[in-house]
Amino acid sequence: MLKDKRIAVLGAGHLGGALIGGLFRSKLVTSPKNIIATRRNAEALEELRRKWDVRTTTDNRRAVKGADIVILAVKPQTAAAVLDEIAPVSNKRQLFISVMAGITTSFINERLKRLCPVVRAMPNTPVFVDAGATAIAASAHASEADLKTAEAIFKAVGKVEILPENLLDAVTGLSGSGPVYIFMVIEALTDGGVKMGIPRAVAMRLAAQTVYGSAKLVMETGKHPAILKDEVTTPGGTAIAAVHELESKGLRTVLIDAVVTATKRSQELSELFGK
Ligand SMILES: NC(=O)c1ccc[n+]([C@@H]2O[C@H](COP(=O)([O-])OP(=O)(O)OC[C@H]3O[C@@H](n4cnc5c(N)ncnc54)[C@H](OP(=O)(O)O)[C@@H]3O)[C@@H](O)[C@H]2O)c1
Repeated sequence: MLKDKRIAVLGAGHLGGALIGGLFRSKLVTSPKNIIATRRNAEALEELRRKWDVRTTTDNRRAVKGADIVILAVKPQTAAAVLDEIAPVSNKRQLFISVMAGITTSFINERLKRLCPVVRAMPNTPVFVDAGATAIAASAHASEADLKTAEAIFKAVGKVEILPENLLDAVTGLSGSGPVYIFMVIEALTDGGVKMGIPRAVAMRLAAQTVYGSAKLVMETGKHPAILKDEVTTPGGTAIAAVHELESKGLRTVLIDAVVTATKRSQELSELFGK
């Protein structure tokens, strides 16, 4: 699908770099010459060039000029300046895919001063190990084919869900920020194991594998998590004793509140940088 497309990645930092890696690993792109990456730091660009053999430049306009697809991966606070910079060389046939948190598709169209197709994405850090959870949303001017193109790019680094744009703040609160909640869970389970005498390194491996395996079980069986929970809680056993503890201390409410609070913060940041 992307074989002959020329792709510009503006702001090829952590996420932009991970997406470039995904494009090659998935063989969506086979010729490195079809990718051009930008950032300001020439040394970091040279590193990208050495790693992937892609073309690089510090000049965003040069990168956008020949591109069919432009991936916008600079920080949200830099969005307006970069969009203003590339507006004169952009055109309506180019597909813009943005991962910039909180920057709306209408803001991108406004700053580019044209109604080009835009797909907005909210990925998360597991994209670095090809296990990301990304939600994508199309602007009014993006076609089904544009959405499919964006879907393919993010599928190269994990799972993808298509949602209306007004839900992307909630996605930020759930899966965008979610890895942080799970890291805290893994850390806390590890501490629990250490408290009960397990060496820390072993406890951490057990905790991380437990989270990984439980997620895999939910995804591969398709069973509701409550059913899986009920299946392993023996009457009078250890798990139900722990369930009582978790319920009495409000585990579910705390996690629901975390998603709600992070969603609201995402809405506030969106107001600041790119609505
Ligand atoms: N990391 C995540 O998991 C994640 C998840 C969801 C969404 N996002 C979004 O992804 C975007 C990038 O995040 P990140 O974590 O990858 O940050 P990052 O590593 O800091 O990447 C941003 C890159 O933009 C470059 N840059 C800054 N100003 C530029 C300019 N004027 N022109 C071209 N490049 C410029 C920076 O490099 P130089 O300093 O060398 O210019 C930097 O490498 C953000 O908008 C963020 O909201 C990230």
